[in-house]
Amino acid sequence: MQTVDIDVAVVPVAGLGTRLLPATKSQPKEMLPVGRKPVVQYVVEELTRVGIHQILFITGRRKASIENHFDMDHALIQLLREQGKEELLAQLEFERAPVQYFYTRQRRQLGLGHAVLHARHFVGQRPFVVALGDSIIGLHAQSRVIERMKEVFVDQDADAVIAFETVPPHEVDKYGIARPRGDGTIFPLEDVVEKPSPEEAPSNLAIAARYIFSPRIFDALERTGFGAGGEIQLTDAIRLLIQEGGNVYGIRLAPGERRYDIGNFPSYFRAFVEFALADDLYGPDLRAYLQGLLHT
Ligand code: UTP
Repeated sequence: MQTVDIDVAVVPVAGLGTRLLPATKSQPKEMLPVGRKPVVQYVVEELTRVGIHQILFITGRRKASIENHFDMDHALIQLLREQGKEELLAQLEFERAPVQYFYTRQRRQLGLGHAVLHARHFVGQRPFVVALGDSIIGLHAQSRVIERMKEVFVDQDADAVIAFETVPPHEVDKYGIARPRGDGTIFPLEDVVEKPSPEEAPSNLAIAARYIFSPRIFDALERTGFGAGGEIQLTDAIRLLIQEGGNVYGIRLAPGERRYDIGNFPSYFRAFVEFALADDLYGPDLRAYLQGLLHT
């Protein structure tokens, strides 16, 4: 039984985001706003809420604005203070989160698995969370799924725990798909397949952008070749881990814990509208406006 607390997370943000061009030509997709905040701020808020104290971003070219976003902007704070803009100052509270940020660059975008491998030296022998920087879990990131994943990781003495959500059968070819044992909320994972066709898919449970790993994943990643899309796939390394006797569990997102994937326009548009509609101040007005639009 492991007793160590899991307080370190790796957030890959190095992807090129080509599906969101031209919006992502010179800015990271992880900095696109969803409602009031950039995507990656929701991810960090989710992580800090569940006890993460160190975050390593795997960044790349054109991603410097992420580092700037989490830096303390003393000049801006001073200016807002002088102008007496207390309500705007409150919007910078996230800068004070009790978390230490680290950054390293993935110099060639060879896939998510390749990005995670960059964390090996930093992570060392500790278990760690991986949270994709382009996905929010739950409206306004109110999910505590990582907390539940930590419990499963410790209780089952696991090598990996992965979050899953049900997707429509025609969308299984966009995700890593589980072969679960049983139909429980928490289940041993028998296999996982990257982007299967609907005919080949072992279920319609898709990996939902959150993982906890023991450092054993790095050995698997080292031996994982190029897979779907010519990239080193994290899913393939998880598959290898299972094949080699690794103890890997899946956990389903709870009903109120949808994954908002900001990596493509249809799902980004939906997320933006949903978050904006839920905005305490501006949501009601937007709702009336949209109702007007839809009924003309
Ligand atoms: P995606 O699969 O959405 O790939 O990445 P992408 O390259 O960002 O986007 P497209 O396909 O060009 O539109 C899922 C997550 O993995 C990270 C991304 O930043 C995102 O958080 N990623 C992906 C890396 O960090 N490095 C990579 O080489 C690929």
